[in-house]
Amino acid sequence: MAEGRIRTFVGGLDTRMEGGIPDKYVTLICGRAGTMKSTLAYYILYNNSKIKKKRGIYVTLEQTRVSLLEHMIKLGMDPRNLTDSGIVVIDMTRLRKETKMKSSIDDVNWVDSILQTVETYKTKYACDMLVLDSLAALYSLATFNNPRSDIFFFFEKLRELDMSVFIISEMLDPDKELFGMFGVEDFLADGIIHLDLEKSSRRVNLFLSVFKMRKTNHDRSYYPLMFDGSKFEIITD
Ligand SMILES: Nc1ncnc2c1ncn2[C@@H]1O[C@H](COP(=O)(O)OP(=O)(O)O)[C@@H](O)[C@H]1O
Ligand SMILES: [Mg+2]
Repeated sequence: MAEGRIRTFVGGLDTRMEGGIPDKYVTLICGRAGTMKSTLAYYILYNNSKIKKKRGIYVTLEQTRVSLLEHMIKLGMDPRNLTDSGIVVIDMTRLRKETKMKSSIDDVNWVDSILQTVETYKTKYACDMLVLDSLAALYSLATFNNPRSDIFFFFEKLRELDMSVFIISEMLDPDKELFGMFGVEDFLADGIIHLDLEKSSRRVNLFLSVFKMRKTNHDRSYYPLMFDGSKFEIITD
């Protein structure tokens, strides 16, 4: 596979984008609730750890560490099977709840402190991949005076981490193609992977599109996305 690219390990997908996502990109994984965004992001970390021996950090602000790992173990991704590499799960759900309750700690910049925590683990364990779950939860910790420029600087800080970053973004309105929350995230990100649900009679099917990927040849088709219990695959015929 191509040098300088991160494989997603989704069957059929990497070969459709020159071998994977360029290293050190900031990529949004977007979709409505229940479109397996968290599962896919963890899956990318898990397989890169298992097969490529890359270490990753997963910052969770939505689900507790226990609930996240229970879900992943059920789907065949037990972190105990990662021997000489691994995933650091940073559980920030408590911080988020506490911040909601105490307005007096508003003046602390939690987003910066999360990024500092990431930096510490990155250096300590030589991690080169990062998942932030989720964008909306992260925004709830920040006080934006000027969202557009604040988000611009936030993305700059993410790039300064010098890691491959995946940001999970929940899309609230299925009819609007708003991948972030302020309408600037999509052009600030290097890549966008969109997960979409479609109801056909009694079935709900999941689709994946590489909506945007800088410096990469790809198409924007919506491919059916299957998960067979341990592996993701797109159907391309
Ligand atoms: N094998 C499977 N195939 C399809 N969907 C599944 C499978 N296993 C679990 N799910 C669904 O995945 C959903 C959770 O995925 P998750 O990654 O947490 O979604 P999101 O982060 O987008 O909200 C659950 O609602 C569950 O119904
Ligand atoms: Mg999720």
